[in-house]
Amino acid sequence: MTNIQAAIFASGTGSNFEAIMNQHGSLGCEVVLLVCDNPHAPVIKKARTRGIKTFVFHPEAYETKEAYEQKIVKQLQALNVSWIFLAGYMRIVGKTILNIFEGQIVNIHPSLLPEFPGKDAIGQAFEAGVTKTGVTIHYIDEGIDTGPIIAQQELKILPEDTRETLQTRIQKIEHEIYPKIIQQLMNQTLKMK
Ligand code: GRF
Repeated sequence: MTNIQAAIFASGTGSNFEAIMNQHGSLGCEVVLLVCDNPHAPVIKKARTRGIKTFVFHPEAYETKEAYEQKIVKQLQALNVSWIFLAGYMRIVGKTILNIFEGQIVNIHPSLLPEFPGKDAIGQAFEAGVTKTGVTIHYIDEGIDTGPIIAQQELKILPEDTRETLQTRIQKIEHEIYPKIIQQLMNQTLKMK
C-alpha cells in the first residue's frame, strides 16, 4: 500500500466521494477520514459503509470557525493526513487549516474557473446562456474558488440541455477526472519523496 494518508471533506450527497473511493486501490494514497459539517449528509453513510472514519461536526456548536477548524486539524494530525480533497464541502477553508495544509488541499468545481465561482455554478452557467462550461480541479487558497488550477475539462452545453441533464453530464466528468487527477498528484508526490 502507500504511506500517504488523505482526508475527504464533503457536505452532501457524496457522489464524488464515492467515485474517489471506487478507485481507492489505485489512488496512490489511503483515504483515512471523512470530514463532514452536516450531520444529515448522505455521504456519512457512504463512508461508514466502507469503514472510513468520520468526523462530523455542527459548525453552530462552535463559537468560531477557528475553534472547529482546530478540532479538524487535531483529527487530521492524529491520522497523519497530508492531503485533503474537497468534494462538495460547502464551507470556505479558513487560515487554521490553510496555514498547515496549503498546497495539499484540492477542490473540484463544476465550471471552467474563473467563470462561475461560488454556489450553484451549474445553474449560473445554464442561466447565463453560455455554450460551454466544464469542470475545474484546483488548489485551495483563501478566496472562493480562486486557487491555482490543476486541470480543467470542457463540456459543450447542448441546445436540448436542461439544468438537470447538464448537471448529470458535468457530474459524469467529475467522477472520471477527480480520481485520475488525485492519482497523478500522488505519483508526483511519491517521486519527490
Ligand atoms: C460537485 O458538483 C462538486 O463539483 C461541487 O459540489 C458537488 C458535490 O456533489 N463542489 P457530490 O456531493 O459529490 O455528489
